[in-house]
Amino acid sequence: MKRRPLFPQVGALLHGGDYNPEQWLDRPDILEEDIRLMKQAGVNTATLGVFSWSVYEPREGEYHFEWMHRIIDNLYENGIYTVLATPSGARPAWLDEAYPEALRTNLKRVRNLHGQRHNHCITSPAYRKLVRRMDEKLAEEFGSHPGVILWHISNEFGGECACELCKEKFREYLREKYHNNIEELNQEWWTTFWSHRFLDFSQIEPPAAHGEKSIHGLNLDWKRFTTANTRDFMEAEMAVFREKTPHIPITTNFMHLYMALDYNQMAKPLDIISWDSYPRYGDPDRSLYDCSVENAFDHVTMRSFKKDRPFMMMESVPSLVNWHDYNKPKRPGVHRVTALQAIACGSDTVQYFQWRKGRGSYEQYHGAVLDHLGRSDTRVFRDVEEVGRLLASLKEVQGSVVQAKAAILFDWDNRWAIDDAAAFSNKTKKYEQTCIDLFRLFVKNGVEVDLISSEEPFDGYDFLAAPMLYLLKPGVAHRLKAFTERGGQLLATYITGYVNENTLCYLGGFPGDGLTELFGLYTEEIDTLYPKEKNGADFGEEGSLQGVYVLKDYCELVKLQGARPLAVYTGDFYAGTPAVTVNDYGKGKAYYVAARMEAAGMEALLKVMWKNAGIEVKALPEGVEYHRRTGDGAAYDFFINYTNEEQVIETEAGTDLLTGEAKEGKTTLAPLGVMVCRVQV
Ligand code: GAL
Repeated sequence: MKRRPLFPQVGALLHGGDYNPEQWLDRPDILEEDIRLMKQAGVNTATLGVFSWSVYEPREGEYHFEWMHRIIDNLYENGIYTVLATPSGARPAWLDEAYPEALRTNLKRVRNLHGQRHNHCITSPAYRKLVRRMDEKLAEEFGSHPGVILWHISNEFGGECACELCKEKFREYLREKYHNNIEELNQEWWTTFWSHRFLDFSQIEPPAAHGEKSIHGLNLDWKRFTTANTRDFMEAEMAVFREKTPHIPITTNFMHLYMALDYNQMAKPLDIISWDSYPRYGDPDRSLYDCSVENAFDHVTMRSFKKDRPFMMMESVPSLVNWHDYNKPKRPGVHRVTALQAIACGSDTVQYFQWRKGRGSYEQYHGAVLDHLGRSDTRVFRDVEEVGRLLASLKEVQGSVVQAKAAILFDWDNRWAIDDAAAFSNKTKKYEQTCIDLFRLFVKNGVEVDLISSEEPFDGYDFLAAPMLYLLKPGVAHRLKAFTERGGQLLATYITGYVNENTLCYLGGFPGDGLTELFGLYTEEIDTLYPKEKNGADFGEEGSLQGVYVLKDYCELVKLQGARPLAVYTGDFYAGTPAVTVNDYGKGKAYYVAARMEAAGMEALLKVMWKNAGIEVKALPEGVEYHRRTGDGAAYDFFINYTNEEQVIETEAGTDLLTGEAKEGKTTLAPLGVMVCRVQV
């Protein structure tokens, strides 16, 4: 794979984060000290202007950019580059006073008062115009500055607005989608149920707790519309920079598996993917490793949006946040492993929120590189300095990427549809957790896997898992067949192919849209188990899969039409019927796991499938994560030890970039130690 470094002008991995000098303009001593300490900490980037509107434009039409020029110049002269945000994530008071339509209306149809952030109307032409005017100014003022390397559009887009303007735009969206034919919508939304038929698009309201929330098709279309409208807002901002500064790439920062916006759609127009990572490290109910595997799931989701280039960890914290239930500082050594985990998963940056703690308001106790104490001889500052040094020694990793032969389908429409379905058990549906649990087995076995939407091409993969693929978008069933036919190994589970893209159930047997043929079976019933209930999958005593594995939560009762049973249920009235099956299809195999099977059983099955697919597993000690980044003929093997004990790993011949030592064969990783070995491929 050809390397595509994100910022060739920087020539290094980025280390830095959100910096809010506008809060300190009356303290030139502090601003000066910031530069000195940034250099000491190995910081080479600062994210500026995220919430600066009221300082840029304190009154409508009165602009002040000179302070930002001084900051950017000063940073640049000291070797620190700028990621420059647009300030549309929060509005000054004058704006809401003069243009109340910019204020968001919630689903109860109540318009917000001025305050908070991330709460503007997504449609408002007045707000879009003001944002455009501000963005044009920013592009003109700073677009030619050599220190500005990236536009950061707004901040963590999210939420929904149900004002009159948004409602009308939603109706337009529906008119277009349903070809201006209300009967088509009535059919796809199944509105004859409870007599909810519409005569005209104008009768349609966004879903609301005190109004319509029982039409799954409406609920889903509203979410799709909100994504489309937010993307449209973002693209309107992007258009200014595309026109005025085509040489500067553009990102926006995503949040941890954020449910309300389909990030697959949001990712498309962006040049670079970035996200904000705030795992709950230190929760005594979960090991550091478990917590980190979940964080890896997020990293991999992000890197999978643009597989041919690195992503950015735009925010993280070297110490603690202020919004978890319990805000615990990272323990000694934890910052190092979490920072390098991001790089291992394909990020070219470690950035923080924030550089310096503010004195007041809501985030005054949120962790930062610099505390109110204002000193650099603190534990946290030293941890950051250490990460700065480590990143400098990993400079050559830039632009390399993680490549996977396996993928797990992880789809927003599917998340929404399963979440909204009035079926199964709301306590145990757990689609995201099911995907994470499957992903965990890949990490455990050192197998790289992408997390992709069902709309992404399947070419290039030899293994695909589609856990709980309840909703099938048009063409997906066909592409799954083509994938298997050409030799792919396909894994599906209970609750697959129940509904079409508008949540209408398939008739004639699940999994629908022709998948009964691919899997060689159909499901007749699904049993939802109470937490106390268990069943078993008996694989017998011969063959590559053996033994009995525990099943919980869901057991589908399937009838075979060509598939071979690999395991049968051990209990209940369906004992002896198939629980796990395989169907030969073309040159490949389609496996169906009809029940929620414990990890050991899934792992045994995956090992068979990986072998069929020619995917190698890596023997790793418990609590060690492994990833390989490659680029231009070099490979970088990352080993991260999340345990407090030494761990022995096996490496190919190469050089440890963090120590400069030659390595081959067995190597000991220190507690919370990391090794990054350059090997030839
Ligand atoms: C992020 C946000 C930052 C800051 C941070 C605190 O979600 O983008 O502005 O609020 O959280 O953890």
